Amino acid sequence: MEAIILVGGLGTRLRPLTHTIPKPLLPLANIPMVERMIRNLPEVFDTAILAVNYGLKDMKKYFEERDVGKKVIIVPEDKPLGTGGAMRNCIDHVTGTTAVFNGDVVSSIDLNKMLEQHTKTKAKGTLALWEVNDPSRFGVVEYKNGEILQFQEKPERGTELSNLINAGTYLLEPEILEMIPPNQKISIERDIYPKVAGKGLHGFPFEGHFIDSGTPESYLEANFKSIGNNGTAAHTGASIRGSVLIHKNARLEHCIIGPNAIIGPNVNLEKCVIRNSVILSDVKGHGSVIENSIIGPEIKFKEDSKRSLISPKGQITF
Ligand code: GTP
Repeated sequence: MEAIILVGGLGTRLRPLTHTIPKPLLPLANIPMVERMIRNLPEVFDTAILAVNYGLKDMKKYFEERDVGKKVIIVPEDKPLGTGGAMRNCIDHVTGTTAVFNGDVVSSIDLNKMLEQHTKTKAKGTLALWEVNDPSRFGVVEYKNGEILQFQEKPERGTELSNLINAGTYLLEPEILEMIPPNQKISIERDIYPKVAGKGLHGFPFEGHFIDSGTPESYLEANFKSIGNNGTAAHTGASIRGSVLIHKNARLEHCIIGPNAIIGPNVNLEKCVIRNSVILSDVKGHGSVIENSIIGPEIKFKEDSKRSLISPKGQITF
């Protein structure tokens, strides 16, 4: 079975980081988000199809050099085709029921369970649904007896049909992909799903966590969530506080790391305090307190960079 991963967006909300690294190759707990997604696919999905526009060269190079445990097919788009157009562009590689993911979603969804439901209900499509307190910024669904009956885009407070939103993970039969006009910019959410609502489109609400890691704040949150049970309990040269991940090639001296910190490969830090931050690869730093930040890659910083470090190579400070 195939899983299509949509990884072609510009990632504008994560600029300047995405000027040098396309969003799907940005690490979550030291593993690029797209690789993490491929490795987390249930065994039944033996092929990952990557729908790529922005970042094509980097993505090709990355997967040429690595074995990620599944067959990877990269399908390029000459121009951005939107979420629906990008899926349609992959149709030649699809052999049946297909999973589709927004490449920046980090969630606790049980795909095997979702697939079981999709098969049992004989749905044309099943959409993962996530419950939010305030759905006014999202696409909301009307959901009854397992079926999605209609969609509502960014409803005013008090008018929402439910608190369930589209969580960017789908199981689709080929007939849905065939409904998408080829070579056109099409949004699956706005242009296609509303046409299938009430006609075999099912929902799969799930609990746990759901993070769209496309903003600096949510990228940090997704990183800390991805540490899971793989955290670093102790490290020479650092005093560890709370949940922390330190790459084995990082060198630390007289540092306080955490809570919530990820230190990437070839990082070299001396006399630093790192809290609630992600330090990407090849960063060198001395005598600074870094908090609520994403630093790197290849940044150098010195004394008193607290909250104000600016770098052209892709660092964001809130
Ligand atoms: P922003 O520019 O920050 O909004 O990020 P983005 O470009 O990734 O857009 P968004 O987060 O809304 O996209 C959701 C998912 O769809 C992401 O995984 C994108 O990579 C993907 N995506 C969005 N547009 C396209 C497209 O035109 N082609 C492909 N292949 N993927 C897309």
